[in-house]
Order: sequence, then structure tokens, then C-alpha cells
Amino acid sequence: MTTTKQGVRRVRFGMIGCGEVGQGVLTLLAAQAADLAERFGVAFEPVVVAVRNLDRDRGSHVQGIDFVTDPLLVVHDPRVELVVEVAGGLAMGPALEAALTARKPVVTANKALVAAQLGELIALSRSTGTPIGCEAAVAAALPILRSLGRRVDRVQRLLAIVNGTSNFVLTRMEQDELELPRAVAMAQKLGLAEADPAADIDGHDAAAKLSILAHRSLGIWAKPGSFPVMGIRDLLPADFDLADAMGHRIRHIAHAELLNDGVRLGVEPLLLPNWHLLAGVEEEYNAVYLCCKFAGDLSFFGKGAGGLPTATAVVGDMVDLALGTSSFWPAAVPAQLLDPALCDRRHYLRVTAHRHTGLARRIEGLLRKAGHTVQDRATCVGKKDSIHLGFLLAPCSDVRLAPVRELLLELGRVRAVLTLGITE
Ligand SMILES: NC(=O)c1ccc[n+]([C@@H]2O[C@H](COP(=O)([O-])OP(=O)(O)OC[C@H]3O[C@@H](n4cnc5c(N)ncnc54)[C@H](OP(=O)(O)O)[C@@H]3O)[C@@H](O)[C@H]2O)c1
Repeated sequence: MTTTKQGVRRVRFGMIGCGEVGQGVLTLLAAQAADLAERFGVAFEPVVVAVRNLDRDRGSHVQGIDFVTDPLLVVHDPRVELVVEVAGGLAMGPALEAALTARKPVVTANKALVAAQLGELIALSRSTGTPIGCEAAVAAALPILRSLGRRVDRVQRLLAIVNGTSNFVLTRMEQDELELPRAVAMAQKLGLAEADPAADIDGHDAAAKLSILAHRSLGIWAKPGSFPVMGIRDLLPADFDLADAMGHRIRHIAHAELLNDGVRLGVEPLLLPNWHLLAGVEEEYNAVYLCCKFAGDLSFFGKGAGGLPTATAVVGDMVDLALGTSSFWPAAVPAQLLDPALCDRRHYLRVTAHRHTGLARRIEGLLRKAGHTVQDRATCVGKKDSIHLGFLLAPCSDVRLAPVRELLLELGRVRAVLTLGITE
């Protein structure tokens, strides 16, 4: 690090990746240079950037930067004091490990890699005394990890909308009555969904973010794959109408909760009462809602994607690293992961069937016989002579509800059955 005559510390950094987020970082640093110097006394100077294609245009903020194709050349460049990784993918693991081993602080936006290797990266970060910042990996512009890293409170429960694509798709299904494929196509047209939207729609992107969030908030380490993940493919626009008629909205929720005997985590579409803070999160916005022991409820809301919003999180980490104010990640405490399917909760049940007098009565009779209590019901007309019947059921476990689903599917004229959890 060198210091200018004005007392501003110059931090030379190398960047791996110069796509949407990387160019956002360069643009933000150029736009905020005077502000960063005045407020934090730092000036960031990009010296080398790794990309795959050296011929591609990288915007107007790349004068004087060396471009290379090997990420390790960035890490081992003797001028580089700080490594910013905004390339993505598990293949970036060796570069991050090399940076930490060389005691070069790391900022990464790579949720897939961080979620898969957080335990190992934290161990390396602690053993080498080299901090790692990954604010951008969770919910882009929301300063959630920074806040959690400095918390003095105990987080008991978190509910989060951390995938802007799936939230946008659900909003279009809810407000415009679009079927899921058309809502996804609209998201793709607006640049809000990848050509292959599976990671967003099936919940795996949210699961990676939940893993990181649960580590920072509850202090536990649960890799994606160790907890249930359900996507939004089975939802119909009718589900939003039925839920609304019974006072609820549906959102794709990543959740984690500390209970007496362990931790419960999951990603799934859930019904929320329409007064709930997360029920009102629409379009591509993200939100994290925390229930804390001493502070009570806290929430964060904002843009969870986009070059510049994500760049604010990356540069925020860079400032923390330059000032030496970033908090180290503590080693995770061992936790018993509970099977959410065994925990009691209220449920929403939707039966789609060929329209038929007496069907609702037969379904209710079947539910009663199986020991379930219907708390509310709603109906809406479907396409081609079909009808959607919605029920809110008193608390029971998913495991106890599963056989009812099978019995309902065996009823004549029933075309589909969907069950979702309800939370508050
Ligand atoms: N976009 C968002 O809104 C957002 C939000 C939060 C987090 N993130 C995370 O931020 C990271 C970057 O996302 P992005 O949207 O900026 O992606 P992107 O637009 O596809 O950019 C990726 C960049 O990395 C470079 N790259 C990829 N593999 C490389 C390799 N092996 N060696 C050298 N360079 C390589 C690419 O080079 P070429 O340009 O030559 O192909 C490109 O410049 C990802 O981890 C993503 O999950 C993104």
C-alpha cells in the first residue's frame, strides 16, 4: 500500500472477471473515487484483470489495466494487494485458495463457490490471518453479511427472499395471471433470468445463499444438499388467487430457525399472511427478515442483482479490507439438522379437478377421516371445465399429510394436488 500526499492510501488490486459485476465495480470505483478518498482515505487502483476473451470490449474504465487469461496470474502479480473475484463458478476455488495462502485478502461474489467451500475457505482465512469478504454473494446490494458480522444479538430465525428471478416470476404469475413458462420468458426478455433458469426456479441459487446466511446469522454450517429445496415449477396462477382469498400471498422463501433440539432449514414456496413484511416484496427485489433475541424483528430490503447494485457490495468489502475493519468468519458450531418434514406447521392444499358437484364435500370428508382440520377454503374456476379447490389445514407434519395427497390423487376426476407450508 502506498500513501499519496493528501494522505490517501492507494490499494492496488487484481480482478478475476470483468463481466456484468466486474464492469460495475470499475464503473462504481471511477464514479465514487473522490468520495472513497474523502470518506475512507482510500483509492483503489486496478492493475490486472483476468478474463476468458481478451478481445471483448470492457467499457471505458480499463485504461492502464493489464488483461490476462489466467486467474493465477492475477493472484501472483506482485503489485496486487487485494484480489477481487467476480468470475463465478467452482473453478475459481484454486485462485481463491492461492490468494489466501499468499495472504492477499479476497473479495468474492461467487455464491456457488462460497456455499460449496465456505468451511475450507474460513479455515484457510483464519490460519493465514487473511480476511475474505463475500457480501455480494448473498443478496447483492443488501448489506446483510456486514450487519450480521457485527451483530451483538442472537438471531433465532431468518426468512428471506434471495432470488430476484423467482420473485419476479411469482409476481408476474400473481399479478398478470401468467403461467410459469410465460413469466420465465418475460424475465429472460428483461435480462432478469438466465437462458437456463433452473438454478433460480428450482431453488438451488437460494439454497447456496441460505447456506452462507445461516453460517453468518446462526453460526452453523449446512451445505446446500443437506436441507430440502423445493422450486416453484408446480405453482399455478390459481394458487395466488386461492391464497389471496384466504388472506395469504405466496413467496419463494429461504428459511432457517434455531430450535431447542437443532436447526431447521429449507427453501420452498410458502404462504405468508398478507400482512407479513415479506408478502409485500414484489418484482425482482430481495429481502431478509430476522427474528433476534434482543432486538426483536429486523429487515433488509433491496436489489439482489445487477452490475452496479452488486458492485456496491463488492466495493463495500474492499473498503473494509483496506481499512482492516472486516470481521473474520468464526468457525461454525456443530448443529443437528432437523428434518423439516417432521415438524408441525399449517398447510395449504390445492386440488385441481374436473368440475363436479359434491367434489369439495368428498375432499373435506377424506381430510376429516384422515384426522385433518380444514380452517379455511376457497374455490376458483380453471381452464377447460376444471376447478381449483384450496384449503388451509390445521398444523401437522408434511409426513402426516403425504398419504392424503396420494388418496386425493386416487379420487376420480382429480388432476393435480399441491401442498405448501404456511409460515408467519
Ligand atoms: N450479475 C449479478 O447480478 C450478480 C449478483 C450477485 C452475484 N453475482 C455473482 O458475481 C459473479 C460474476 O457474475 P457476472 O454476472 O458478472 O458474470 P458474467 O457477466 O458472466 O462475467 C463473468 C466474467 O468472468 C470471466 N471469467 C469467467 N471464467 C473465467 C476464467 N476461467 N478465467 C478468466 N476469466 C473468467 C468472464 O470472461 P469473459 O467476459 O471473457 O467471458 C467474464 O468477464 C458470479 O459469481 C455471480 O454469481 C452476480
